[in-house]
Amino acid sequence: MERILAKDIGQHEGREVELKGWVDVRRDHGKLIFIDLRDRSGIAQVVFLPNDKELRSLADTIRPEWVVSVRGTVGRRPEGMINEKIPSGAHEVAAVGLEIITQTKTPPFDLQGDGHDIGEEVRMKYRYLDLRRSRMQGNVRMRAKINQYIRNFFSSRDFVEVETPYISKSTPEGARDYLVPSRVYEGKFYALPQSPQQYKQLLMVAGFERYFQIVRCFRDEDTRGDRQPEFTQLDVEMSFPTQDEILGLIEELYIGMVKDLYPEKHITQTPFPRIPYKEAMEKYNSDKPDLRKDKDDPNELAFAFIVDFPAFEWKETEKRWDAVHHPFTQPAVSSAADFKEKFEKDPGAILAKQYDLALNGYEIAGGSIRIHDPELLAAVFEAMGNKPEDVRAKFGHMLEAFSYGVPPHGGIASGLDRAVAILQNEPNIREVIAFAKTGDGRDLMMDSPSDVADEQLKELHIKIDKKEK
Ligand code: AMO
Repeated sequence: MERILAKDIGQHEGREVELKGWVDVRRDHGKLIFIDLRDRSGIAQVVFLPNDKELRSLADTIRPEWVVSVRGTVGRRPEGMINEKIPSGAHEVAAVGLEIITQTKTPPFDLQGDGHDIGEEVRMKYRYLDLRRSRMQGNVRMRAKINQYIRNFFSSRDFVEVETPYISKSTPEGARDYLVPSRVYEGKFYALPQSPQQYKQLLMVAGFERYFQIVRCFRDEDTRGDRQPEFTQLDVEMSFPTQDEILGLIEELYIGMVKDLYPEKHITQTPFPRIPYKEAMEKYNSDKPDLRKDKDDPNELAFAFIVDFPAFEWKETEKRWDAVHHPFTQPAVSSAADFKEKFEKDPGAILAKQYDLALNGYEIAGGSIRIHDPELLAAVFEAMGNKPEDVRAKFGHMLEAFSYGVPPHGGIASGLDRAVAILQNEPNIREVIAFAKTGDGRDLMMDSPSDVADEQLKELHIKIDKKEK
């Protein structure tokens, strides 16, 4: 007999079917035993009648979260017993056979509720159980729909999804790098990319013109509610764009996504307001203001572009000027000479062709028009405190690439974890990442970070210098 899905039992009224899945709940009504059988599609009610004594006593033993296979005949539920909340709610399966496939230890926590009141440590340790709860199933499944929406959106607009390397070289996004030691090249390291920034710009030199990627980024920074050491970006780059085109594209993406996937939600203002950085700071004291009209409304989405950021900021700890976004961002200057003159006079007054997208008080995207003049790019690197020989060592490949016919280009990257968390009304991004790290950057389920064998260290030419405790 072919297995059917729980949500579909109504299509098989009067016929014998087989269901496989987990026991969601078991209700013992004296004569009758009911189980809600849960599979990937949802829930179906199964009833064990008193006539078959052997079957009934087997049903008596089953417990929540056991994996079972049930054969039975689909019938309509009696009037008054119909559950309108679930697709299979007008029907039930009268069991004629039951196979217990696997049993379970008592789960460490309740899987029925939303789980918000359960300690996060234990939820993370047993993430595979936590993910069974319907809230987490919903988050992970909606995230997949969003990914699919994004892929359709960009592919139908002539963008090509290109995978860029994870084992790579440091690229300056302002955080610390995760390093990967090389076994073959003693003492040398790869870095996990903080973003595919340089690769996507090189894809523009390579003539792709329109690139996107749903991509993992790695940043060794302190974890917070809206930050993870590895997170996912929707990364985009275009050749020959105007800033308006890039903002318009992202605006169209999010408006369409909300309309299709979250019809219950409303956007406070369209087109999204575009607020200069200076005005945002003066008016809201934030470069990611929360512009919702009613902050108690879970269905309100207030998007806003912040534009005209300053290009450089003073880093007191390092006593140098640094790029507010990243050093590839085009400052509002006409040439390398013009840049040097303006930087000499007042570095803090130079604006950049840089923009962010804020949503309900979170930064969900950032990007810029890039510098494509190699002379200007070198001047910017030097202004930020790099010696000419360091610029050549670190970014020589970019300068060289830009000497082979580079198109003007620009792009944006959207933090998908943050966007999905807000759309799903979740308080932090860990709730929308299947296997998230804890607030202090650990994976409690796999127990990482962890020690490695001396052999492995030796192969990598690494000695651990353990601090005395
Ligand atoms: P940026 O560094 O602004 O730009 O990153 C883009 C977006 O990624 C999200 N984000 C994060 N989400 C979760 N955890 C983190 N640790 C984290 N860090 C950033 C934010 C942010 O807006 N290469 C450029 C983009 C470009 O210029 O095209 C970049 O990475 O939502």
